[in-house]
Amino acid sequence: MTFDFKIAAADTPTMYRDLASALEGLVAGESDSIANMANAAALIWETLPDVNWVGFYRNIGGELVLGPFQGRPACIRIKFGDGVCGVAADTRKVQRVEDVNAFPGHIACDRASASEIVVPLIRDGELLGVLDIDSPRAGRFTEEDEAGCVRLSEILSKAI
Ligand code: SME
Repeated sequence: MTFDFKIAAADTPTMYRDLASALEGLVAGESDSIANMANAAALIWETLPDVNWVGFYRNIGGELVLGPFQGRPACIRIKFGDGVCGVAADTRKVQRVEDVNAFPGHIACDRASASEIVVPLIRDGELLGVLDIDSPRAGRFTEEDEAGCVRLSEILSKAI
């Protein structure tokens, strides 16, 4: 079986709509959360331009622990409240950071990262973890990216 999800859309909302459809297809019928996070990271990595890290941190007993990802090896454990991921977990709010160097406590796993978006993954009031996407370009993530990533997080929250 091959998966060919080459998404080349004219505009950002269309790209995220196609990406969301592809993600729904990719996780459909599979209940293993690691498999679904792994494929999701690969799909997002293949689709979004200008990204250097895409992956998951899981909420394991109130601490974020590295999950499936694409990109350079990353820090393994992040406490709630620490860095962009920890603030997203603590506040349960999307963190869209135009300049990571201006974010107090930002954790630099890859010095190439310049901007970042972190989306909490919540199911039935429980924080499952976060989706983290980094870019080497400052201001890479727009409001359209945020809306698209929130849509992806809704699909992911049911699949992990
Ligand atoms: N920059 C993140 C840490 C995770 S890496 O980007 C993969 C943060 O500050 O939470």
